[in-house]
Amino acid sequence: MFEGFANVWTPVTVSQRLKKKPLAVQVAGEKLVLFRTPEGAVKALVDRCPHRGVALSLGRVTADGCLECPFHAWKFDGQGQNCGVPLNPDAKRERLFATPVPARALGGLLWVFTAPVAEAPHEPEVPETLTRPGLARTYLEVEWKAHWTRAMENMLDTPHVPFLHRRTIGRFVRPYLKADSSMDIEVHDEPYGFRTRGVLDRDTAREVGHLDFYRPNIMVLHIPTPNHTFRMHAICVPQGPLSTRMIVVGARSFARLPLLNPLFNYSNLRIVREDQAVVESSQPPEVPAPADERSVRTDRATLQFRRYYFDVLQPSSAQPAPRLAGVLPKDAA
Ligand code: FES
Ligand SMILES: [Fe+2]
Repeated sequence: MFEGFANVWTPVTVSQRLKKKPLAVQVAGEKLVLFRTPEGAVKALVDRCPHRGVALSLGRVTADGCLECPFHAWKFDGQGQNCGVPLNPDAKRERLFATPVPARALGGLLWVFTAPVAEAPHEPEVPETLTRPGLARTYLEVEWKAHWTRAMENMLDTPHVPFLHRRTIGRFVRPYLKADSSMDIEVHDEPYGFRTRGVLDRDTAREVGHLDFYRPNIMVLHIPTPNHTFRMHAICVPQGPLSTRMIVVGARSFARLPLLNPLFNYSNLRIVREDQAVVESSQPPEVPAPADERSVRTDRATLQFRRYYFDVLQPSSAQPAPRLAGVLPKDAA
């Protein structure tokens, strides 16, 4: 399960999308259902009833905080335990469980751990600007027809800013570009991933980009603003082989009026669309091994991501849950 993206915490969508009804999402090829208990806790199960395989996301949340299947009304709690099998009071419910996936609501986002387990071995690493009090935040979600690795590398790639984004963020850099300009890409390992800085022409020390990579799929761009915090978080969520959900969260310590949120969101959307237009054209869709494309000095940050992808993530796969569910009790006629 979760081929190439197993055993990691990832945001899957913005918290606001999950209301009273269960919500179907797809992560690395696996269909999941998210739901909220009446107390507000967020739970996730594999979106497949162990009885006859229908989507649990078509069901409803009951007053006792269980998810009820729409077909024969079996009920499951957030750990996947079976809490009821109508018409079968003698059913061995401990054998008729659904598959749980750990879930959290943090920083305005819903997160899941990509393995069929009741408990995750650790908590998510959340960029502090997603939770710091006093910041105004904007949330945006778009779908790209691209493999998530191409989307992620695009977000970690500073040298494209003055070219692809010449009409938006790149226009602040272009006046300083000379025919013989040179860019240094610094990469520093951090406990959460790495930090990278792009510096144009060492003697002028003009910073083009300064960003953090949080494993496995979060980029935090530090936008230079004197005396203020201004960040753009881009999260590349793998859905299927050619489908990535891009979640873009802006955070700012100035102009915090909610009235201004659409303006900030629009500006992020324009930049993201510029990226989308080229990333969706990538061949092959999934990033290839480093030796299979030509790279230069300014590709240091994306190559560092690519090594992490090939060494750690791509070989990963979570063991499916044991196939005990759905067994016919011995005494059933
Ligand atoms: S298919 Fe879910 S209860 Fe029968
Ligand atoms: Fe870009």
